[in-house]
Amino acid sequence: MPSDPRSTTGTTAPPNVIGDILVSSRSMTEYSAMFALSPADLRRQILDCPGGTASFTAEVCAAGGDVTACDPVYGQYTADALAALGQRGTERGNRYCRTHSDEYMWTFFTDPEHHSSSRSASGHRFADHHRAHPERYIAGALPRLPFTDERFDLVLSSHFLFSYADRLDLSFHHRAVCELMRVAATEVRIFPLVGMGSNRYPNLEVLRDRLADDGITTEIRSVDYEFQIGGNEMLVCSRDSALSDEQR
Ligand SMILES: C[S@@+](CC[C@H](N)C(=O)[O-])C[C@H]1O[C@@H](n2cnc3c(N)ncnc32)[C@H](O)[C@@H]1O
Repeated sequence: MPSDPRSTTGTTAPPNVIGDILVSSRSMTEYSAMFALSPADLRRQILDCPGGTASFTAEVCAAGGDVTACDPVYGQYTADALAALGQRGTERGNRYCRTHSDEYMWTFFTDPEHHSSSRSASGHRFADHHRAHPERYIAGALPRLPFTDERFDLVLSSHFLFSYADRLDLSFHHRAVCELMRVAATEVRIFPLVGMGSNRYPNLEVLRDRLADDGITTEIRSVDYEFQIGGNEMLVCSRDSALSDEQR
């Protein structure tokens, strides 16, 4: 059923059977594919929100880049406890993949063992970097982030917005995207547009209309990565004023 454009809650998505929000550990290779990151993108000042126990920040910083990660769990746990939390997330996510393997494309990961070992390695790399560089990991929760306006060039947000639309309503999504845009000087990329079970976020068009009213331009862009079937698109958000003349 299409959602009522006047509703602040929007249409509720089918239950996300994964349960509590996972704390997960994706690698830089996975982020680069999900967000179609170019070498030039990786040289920008980047915010990863939520960062979870992903090794994206660790890997890009090790290569000379400048990434800050933000997640509510950073304020609650030590690096060791975060590593354990990430490992539990890997195991829970991996159990889901094994029992629902028909919801996945086994190309980026060749099989569930590959998925498990990749996520575990990423979680360990995250924990090592968090111990050495805690200043790169800032506690914060959407829809209010502890950063000044336009603090980052590029903001990346994966597997939180749109993924848990059974418990985060349209109003939350709207406030969260506006907040990510507030701290971004140029661009926000959000991936994927589907939740578990490959259900596309049901309020996407209403949300895009609201963002347009706020002066935020959105574009749905296909990417060369698909693990969840149907999860091969990202939402790219920019300010109207950031558009080039030919895009207008
Ligand atoms: C599935 S993980 C994604 C982590 C990382 N982006 C990745 O792809 O591996 C979802 C994350 O959302 C975080 N989270 C939960 N509530 C949040 C909120 N209100 N604002 C920001 N992040 C939140 C959780 O702590 C968790 O780490």
